[in-house]
Amino acid sequence: MLDTLMSVDEAIFTRRTCRKFRKDPVSPETLTKIIDAARYAPSSCNLQLWDFVLVNDPETKAEVAEETRYVHLAPVSLFVSYGNNYTRENYAWVQSAAAAIQNMMLMAHSLGVASCWVDTLGDVDRVRRILGLPAEREILALVLFGYPELIPKAPRRRAIDILLHYDKYKGRLNWPSSDDPEEWTLEQIRDFQMAKIRNGARYNKPVPSERDAVLEALGEFVHVQDGRWLDVLPLTGLYTEEIASRYPKVDLTFAEMTDQVFEFVQDRAPRTLRHELYPDAFHEGPEGYDVMSLIFRLEGYPRDERRQYLTTMRRRIKDDGQLFLAFVNRRSYHRPLRWMRGRIGHSGVEYALAPDPSLGPFKAATPGEIRADLHATGWRVRDRRHFFAVPPSDEIEFRAGRKGRKVKLAGQALTRISQLLQPVGPVLGPVARVHAWDVIPA
Ligand SMILES: Cc1cc2nc3c(=O)[nH]c(=O)nc-3n(C[C@H](O)[C@H](O)[C@H](O)COP(=O)(O)O)c2cc1C
Repeated sequence: MLDTLMSVDEAIFTRRTCRKFRKDPVSPETLTKIIDAARYAPSSCNLQLWDFVLVNDPETKAEVAEETRYVHLAPVSLFVSYGNNYTRENYAWVQSAAAAIQNMMLMAHSLGVASCWVDTLGDVDRVRRILGLPAEREILALVLFGYPELIPKAPRRRAIDILLHYDKYKGRLNWPSSDDPEEWTLEQIRDFQMAKIRNGARYNKPVPSERDAVLEALGEFVHVQDGRWLDVLPLTGLYTEEIASRYPKVDLTFAEMTDQVFEFVQDRAPRTLRHELYPDAFHEGPEGYDVMSLIFRLEGYPRDERRQYLTTMRRRIKDDGQLFLAFVNRRSYHRPLRWMRGRIGHSGVEYALAPDPSLGPFKAATPGEIRADLHATGWRVRDRRHFFAVPPSDEIEFRAGRKGRKVKLAGQALTRISQLLQPVGPVLGPVARVHAWDVIPA
């Protein structure tokens, strides 16, 4: 009999999702104890219609890996299926399977074994067929087990007073599902950002070619050595970090909406930065800035709001100052890409197609719209660069990455087409996805 190492209390509060496992195997005895914990989970009508498939055979694993590469991450890959044709009411079958998964993960943790609950399974019907499961045994998840190489920091949790309601729901968090900022208030955008930050947004990564393109344009347009720089609403601070290290002598301030985001941006910056609260401190803030930056942030706010901050920015910049602006052009492959993602269910704010991984609504703009906003708020465009008339190969790889075989094959075809079109890229400027503009006071 294996002894567990911790109390229920400790197991619940210290379990973490692990995504980096050591290669050492998990003994059959330990695995049996983990599966045993699943058997004792509650199930709707006590039907216990779960079946677990442990994938060990290298050939089967390779085939399954065409749909989900997660199977290569850990020594143990366990697929969880549940009978879907008895208790569909209120998703009782899903609830039952989830209870079993949670039992297994807690038991594993108490035995020193780390785990990861995975729903990124590609074409799940194909996985089911590869594993020989009948149609009525639907796969819900893959659970990875193994000894941990790296345990991530605990993501913050929503506070009890926000999520617990007495008698009637009095929720303070209420977000639209749409990714169109026109449907959001500033307060909702702010709350959503806080929630996402709490969930550890720092683990997300941008597409490298996109980041490099923006930095290339920044280097071409902005040559200051020192002076004052205001980075407006940088959100994750991806570019604030770059500005702080590429322009080490500038006095850099960023404007954001919450303490949580301040902390998040400051954490990744190489030096201590000033910050000011948006909107109040920002709109009342001092003048005299040499440079301002607004990088993929016009697209995240309602149009009235962005005209307001462009107006304030104009007031606060020196007459010979400059604004570095980058945005995603809606009249580009952005539109079909967004449509295709919608077809596989990746739509709405949770999947907003923003360059810096999305922490809120995002609607790509047209150059005409942006020009009109700038014109109306006292700015004019001095120079411009554009990038990616066709998707760069790392973006295709990034998007197709863990999505399954069909998407990957489509991605490979697209990579070939985009390589063929590369030479004509420069003349396709108007339909390029990323635009970077050098903007000055009018
Ligand atoms: C239904 C479900 C699906 C998940 N799918 C994935 C996944 O596909 N990939 C992944 O890395 N993590 C996945 N996770 C893990 C969550 O990201 C993780 O539980 C969350 O960030 C909280 O972290 P914690 O488990 O360490 O508390 C999933 C979790 C659940 C409950």
